[in-house]
Amino acid sequence: MSRMSTAPRSSRLDPQLAEALNDHVSVEARSSFLYFSMASWAEVRGLTGFSTWLRAEASGELAHMNQFVDHLNDRGFQATFQALPQPRAEWSDVTVMFEDVVAMEHELAGRIDALIQTSHDKRDHFTGSFLQQFVPQQIADMAEADEILDRLRIVGRDGQGVILIDQELRARAGN
Ligand SMILES: [Fe+2]
Ligand SMILES: [Fe+2]
Repeated sequence: MSRMSTAPRSSRLDPQLAEALNDHVSVEARSSFLYFSMASWAEVRGLTGFSTWLRAEASGELAHMNQFVDHLNDRGFQATFQALPQPRAEWSDVTVMFEDVVAMEHELAGRIDALIQTSHDKRDHFTGSFLQQFVPQQIADMAEADEILDRLRIVGRDGQGVILIDQELRARAGN
């Protein structure tokens, strides 16, 4: 059975664009799972500020996933879900872990950019407008991840420096 509804043609999503948006549901979900995995790694190593910050990011990616699901369903395309790969669970230190955070946020930004391009190509301005709301947040997320990695590289393996950053992240995450 088709996953497209019988909604009027003008409000329907282009099938190729719909599949790309639906794939992004899984991208946000696997990003969330990786953040949750990082949060657990940090938590058991006493880095509770990192853990709090990482969990907040994990919730953020789930919220984004939910917005994509809503957009698909609202436009008459039933969102579906894919099996997620098991997220990485081991890192040699917090700096190495944060390299994965940076890579993930840059990947998310690149994918949002590609989806905006596809929505333009398909002349779907509703989807273009929907996607625009993620742009400022994604830029901020990339910049914040870059900045934290820069700071971790400055302190290196100095425990006191890592603890200072841990305290700062706890404050940023708001608890
Ligand atoms: Fe996201
Ligand atoms: Fe993010």
